[in-house]
Amino acid sequence: MIEQEMDFENRIVSPDYSASQDEAELSLRPKSLDEYIGQEKVKENLRIYITAACQRKESLDHVLLYGPPGLGKTTLAGIIAREMGVNLRVTSGPAIEKQGDLVAILTSLEEGDVLFIDEIHRLSRNVEEILYPAMEDFSLDIIIGKGPSARSIRLDVPHFTLVGATTRSGQLTAPLRDRFGVLMRLELYTPEQLAEIVMRSAGILGIPIDRDGALEIASRSRGTPRIANRLLKRVRDIAQVEFDGKINEKTASAALSRFEIDELGLDDFDRKMLQTIIVNYSGGPVGLDTLAAAIGEESVTIEDVYEPYLMQIGFLTRTARGRCVTKLAYDHLGIQFGTESAQQTMF
Ligand code: ADE
Repeated sequence: MIEQEMDFENRIVSPDYSASQDEAELSLRPKSLDEYIGQEKVKENLRIYITAACQRKESLDHVLLYGPPGLGKTTLAGIIAREMGVNLRVTSGPAIEKQGDLVAILTSLEEGDVLFIDEIHRLSRNVEEILYPAMEDFSLDIIIGKGPSARSIRLDVPHFTLVGATTRSGQLTAPLRDRFGVLMRLELYTPEQLAEIVMRSAGILGIPIDRDGALEIASRSRGTPRIANRLLKRVRDIAQVEFDGKINEKTASAALSRFEIDELGLDDFDRKMLQTIIVNYSGGPVGLDTLAAAIGEESVTIEDVYEPYLMQIGFLTRTARGRCVTKLAYDHLGIQFGTESAQQTMF
């Protein structure tokens, strides 16, 4: 059995669950749809919806953005607000503890404002109930007092646009999901798109880099801009101290190998997870919860953070009976595919 003790918090290729408000990262965020690289379908549709709402002088319909962490949901909310010419208010599901917290936010909005709620699936039921009439009729039903003297009053709130973000739309309750007019799924980025993002970020930060250096960082960033930008900064440090300060394919590759991130962007955790399925469960299928217990990680984190990239590169499949490792992954790890137990999973 493979046993492991890993430091997940400090994993350099972790995209993190919550959006970083780090100042350097804020400066890298594109401010308009034209500056935003990738997610072409999302951009094209948003452009139409924003133009149409502006022409009608209305607020934009509520938007739900879903997809793996680190792909730019907060950035898109900022762009929507900017393109609509309104204020952006940012909060998150876990930060809104009581109904009163949400009432305070909603009543302080100005006409047309964008309210961004990150991790919206983590709102409590109680708080969610305040949101329903607010989203639908721009009104609040508030109970004042307790017991027999309790009264319900209705308050109007300004027309606003709720932009909700979640890692999976399926995590939302149906009544909440149904109240969004626009549902948009963000996809992992291609290495070419990420290389463009790395070049752009390097330009803003004044880091000398060539196209091959950017592509080297991009292809090891698990399809995620937040990881690409983080690796860019760490590679810069190594290029500066150990090389001539310029990032090219050689310096990027040397730096990234030092972080134990391989050519496909897999780190120790990915390799151990794949090895656990291969060694302990004969390559799968293994149920998500069983796997989570074996590697000491939460099921949702495996599902939302680790699996999307492993599936995109064809190393992992989800079947009705559980997760299976593919031959591609065996080859990458240098493990012989086709042992008796591995074959059983195929027939
Ligand atoms: N920085 C982070 N995400 C980006 C994106 N999609 N386009 C441009 N720069 C970015």
